Amino acid sequence: MASPSSSATMQAIPSSRWRLSNCIPITILFSVLLFCLSVFIVWLVIRPKGLVYTIEDGSVHGFDLKNNHLNATFDFILRSYNHNRKVSVNYDSIKVSVSYEGETIASDFFEPFFQPHRNVTRFEVKPVARSVSLMEFVARDLRLEKSSGKVRLAVEVKARIGFKVGVWNSAHRTLRVLCSPVVVFVSSSEKADRTFCNTDI
Ligand SMILES: *[C@@H]1O[C@H](CO)[C@@H](O)[C@H](O)[C@H]1NC(C)=O
Ligand SMILES: *[C@@H]1O[C@H](CO)[C@@H](O)[C@H](O)[C@H]1NC(C)=O
Repeated sequence: MASPSSSATMQAIPSSRWRLSNCIPITILFSVLLFCLSVFIVWLVIRPKGLVYTIEDGSVHGFDLKNNHLNATFDFILRSYNHNRKVSVNYDSIKVSVSYEGETIASDFFEPFFQPHRNVTRFEVKPVARSVSLMEFVARDLRLEKSSGKVRLAVEVKARIGFKVGVWNSAHRTLRVLCSPVVVFVSSSEKADRTFCNTDI
């Protein structure tokens, strides 16, 4: 009577071991797949495209170039459009600089701000050039362009940003926006045309 029950026990042990040793890799595999799938879904949802920048308007006042030194006050209206349906953007630090032939001539900074999804924000930026020393050939080109009534500049925005989806916050990264050329009229009150910018995250 004892031997059949003991043989049943002997069979039960290997079969439960067999199940357990098969279950662990399947559970691990399933978890890995689930993890990959959720990372992929999060990436699809937040794939942070759709930050669209344009310069809507630009002008310059007090333009004065003497002995390769420049004084000028620029005025730009920057339009930032967060096109994303789910992703909001936290801007930590924002620097806007104006350059001519690769030389930075003026810059302006911004307070951190939060941009909700599907939001348009316009900023007015007023970078100022105060006795900025220019290389001789740059000053010469600038003087020449100025005499034609307009100057072709590049406006660059550099910001530390983080994305926010619901309660989830992404790691912070650097956003670079380049708007070029931005044509401003020096000796008339004519407004600059809209310039579309390239965005790189
Ligand atoms: C620029 O402005 C400063 C005063 O802020 C003045 O001393 C300097 O001469 C000006 N430079 C030019 C080129 O006008
Ligand atoms: C965009 O967001 C800013 C800051 O949260 C807000 O002041 C502004 O009204 C929003 N603009 C639109 C068009 O919703």
